[in-house]
This record gives sequence, structure tokens and C-alpha cells, in this order.
Amino acid sequence: MKIKSADFVKGEINLPGDKSISHRAAMLLAISESRAKIENFATSEDCSSTLRCLQDLGVNIEREGNTVFIEGVGKKGLKKPDKQLDCGNSGTTMRLLSGILAGQDFDSILVGDNSLQSRPMKRIIEPLELMGAKIESNEGKAPLNIHGKNPLKSIEYILPIASAQVKSCVLLAGLNADGSTKAINPKSKKEVAPSRNHTELMLKYLGANIEESFRVAEGSFIHEVIVKGASTLKAKDIYIPSDISSAAFFLVAASCLSGSEIILKNVGLNVTRSAILEVLQSFGTEIKIENEREINSEIIGDIRVAGKETLSSNIVSNKIDGDIIANLIDEIPILAVFGTQIVGGLEVRDAEELRAKESDRISSVVENLKRMEADVIEYEDGFRVEKSKLKGAKVDSFGDHRIAMAFAVAGLFAEGETEIIDADCAKVSFPEFFQVLQNVVKYET
Ligand code: S3P
Repeated sequence: MKIKSADFVKGEINLPGDKSISHRAAMLLAISESRAKIENFATSEDCSSTLRCLQDLGVNIEREGNTVFIEGVGKKGLKKPDKQLDCGNSGTTMRLLSGILAGQDFDSILVGDNSLQSRPMKRIIEPLELMGAKIESNEGKAPLNIHGKNPLKSIEYILPIASAQVKSCVLLAGLNADGSTKAINPKSKKEVAPSRNHTELMLKYLGANIEESFRVAEGSFIHEVIVKGASTLKAKDIYIPSDISSAAFFLVAASCLSGSEIILKNVGLNVTRSAILEVLQSFGTEIKIENEREINSEIIGDIRVAGKETLSSNIVSNKIDGDIIANLIDEIPILAVFGTQIVGGLEVRDAEELRAKESDRISSVVENLKRMEADVIEYEDGFRVEKSKLKGAKVDSFGDHRIAMAFAVAGLFAEGETEIIDADCAKVSFPEFFQVLQNVVKYET
């Protein structure tokens, strides 16, 4: 994919449905008690992997465009698959589904592509084994062989990392455990939003017995989620908000190109996901939220963003670190590109989790920024990039959708032409990305 520098971006965009919420809607409706409809289901390949796995587990699913009808089979109604369950590139599919499968009466094997099979799964194996599950793995990585017929007991589990996938896996396994299962988020020194809470919100919306508690103990903020094993799920229609992580690419493009104006319609604004807006605003980007409302327990609204000549920080330092990282983990590649355009550059720390994503996102970002002649240094837990004049170059997606899209936006800011190798992987989360980008890119006449 070749990208030329742009003068500004303009237009109204209807983004595809949120990937995280789509996975959860499909899985939770599959184990609900009857039939319901999902509208604006993500077009992402990852979410198709989830639907395919659920079909292989005997769930009746019909898809008409972005509308998906799911016939719930109940918490224990899934059928033994007659093949391995292929999660493709999707960590969310593998980690959340494992929580559901641990409590079934049959064995199942979860596999994925090379990237997924090299990602850490010990983080879910450990709590599931504490609950009584029996799982064989390839030294803590997929394939995962989940043995059924092991009764699950409830646990109180302190999450070693602020991962929504691990938290969700524990909560979903908790639906099939005796008693109440507690997932305790890592302690925090400040009162910040916990990792994304779509599982909790959707479980509540579908009638599960789930509670959240925030308390302060010895100067730390503690956030716990408790689900009762006796919970059953009612089937209810779900509308998927547009994906704020996909919106991020256009938010940054518009922020950095003066004269830009973009409206992103019906975007999910859940506070556990929307830290990107705060960060951009703190550097002077003009962002307005319109038509804010609630739909199936999620906050949704239109985002209007305008470009500015010079972006500089009104916060103490040009640094993003600490607990906020969990609330913008998927936006860090595009924030690295943003960092090249702002006075004082940008430093990201406490983000070592990026090394365990679809690619090692710290090294992918640093390598590509260097190829574009940005002034950047790599840390074990992040990077620092200075305001830089980007030069068009041959960059690599490293097979990672968010890297492909972040560097397409970098190409808009660069002098000359940028070529992205293996850009097609954008389809993992946003198949329409390059078309939408092309529609909004404008040149002064
Ligand atoms: C996701 C959680 C995040 C995120 C991923 C989707 C989810 O991962 O990076 O893209 O849907 O729960 P972790 O929970 O591992 O941080």
C-alpha cells in the first residue's frame, strides 16, 4: 500500500462496530437462553473468528451484513467441536473462549495463527487451573487443550496485569463455577478507570448477578468485580457502538493536519476506552462530543475533531505512563506517530504489555519511525519520540493491523511516498480502513 502526504482530512465517517464489544456480544448471546440480534457487528476478521468458533461449538448463527442473529444454547449447552477451534489472529477470541470452555463437559483444542501461537497464555491458564480446570499448552502458549468435565470452583483472583482479557476470562469461567468469583484489578495509587469493562457491562445488561466495588485500602485504590456462578443470561438485542480504537487513526490525522474536520458517528465512549480523547485534548486538539447517549449499557456519541496549526502540551510533561496505559493500550502505535508532530515530542513508559501484542509493538513502532527518519529511542517499557520531519519510506506492518494503519497515517504527514509492506493485515480489525482513509484525504487545489 502506497500513501502520499496529505494537506488535510475532511468528512463524516461511520466506522465499523467495536471489536471488543462484538466478541463479547457474540460469546455472551451464544451462552444465553434464547435468540437475539446484534446490530453493527464488527467487520473485523477477528470477530469472524469468534463467530466461526461458536458455530463449531454448535451455536446457530445467521449473518446478514453487519446484523448477526444468535440462538443462545445456555451456559452448558455448547457441543463438543469435531475439529480444532481456530482463533486466527485473535487474542480476545482465545482468551475469553477459554474461560467459557473450561467449564464445559467436553474437551476442546484452541489454535491460532503464528502470531497468536507465540503470545502468552499462561496468564489465563493460571487462574483457570486455580479454579480446577485442566489445560495442556505448549509451554504456556497455544495450542491450548482444554479438558472438560472438571467442576470449577470460585476463586478470588488478583490480576497480575491490568488485562481485560484475563479479567473477562476469569469472569466467564465464574459463570460455571460454584459460589462467587472475584476478579481483583491490580492496585492503583490513583483513582483511574480499570481496564476495559465491556464484559462486566454486558453481563449486567443480560441479567447476570454481577457487582463491582471500589475501595481504598492502605492508600491504594482497589477495584473488584464479583460474578455469581448461579447467573444465567437472558438474550437481549445489542447494538455495537463504532470502535474508538479505529476512530483513533482519524482523530490523529485530523489533529495534526490544520484545516481538517472529521465527524465520527456513533462511537463508543466508555471511559475505560476513551483516554485517547483526553490525551489529544491535552495537546490542544479541538474535540467536541455530540449526541451523547447510552445504549445497552455503553455510552455512545459523535466525535467532531478539528486540526490545528501547532500542537503542544498543556500538561506538565509530554509523557504518558502509569495506570492510564491500560485505557489506551491499543492506541499507542498511533500516539507514537502523533508524538512526531507535537512540540516537545512524546514519551510512553510502563507499556511493556505492548511487546505481547500482535507484534512486539514497541520494536515495530521504533523500527518504522527510524525508517521514516524520526528521532526516537526505545526503552524496555516504551519509547521517546521527538517532534520530527518524517520522510516517506518503506515501512513494515510486521503482520500487525494497528501498525499498518498507524503508519498509513504517518505517511500523510511525511514528505514523499510511504510504502507499507503487508498492509492487508488491517482487515484483522478494520477491513475498510484504506478506503475510508482515501475518502477523507484532501489536497489544496
Ligand atoms: C482487549 C483487551 C486488550 C486489547 C485487545 C482487546 C479485549 O488486551 O489490547 O486489543 O477485547 O479485552 P489485554 O486485555 O490483554 O490488555
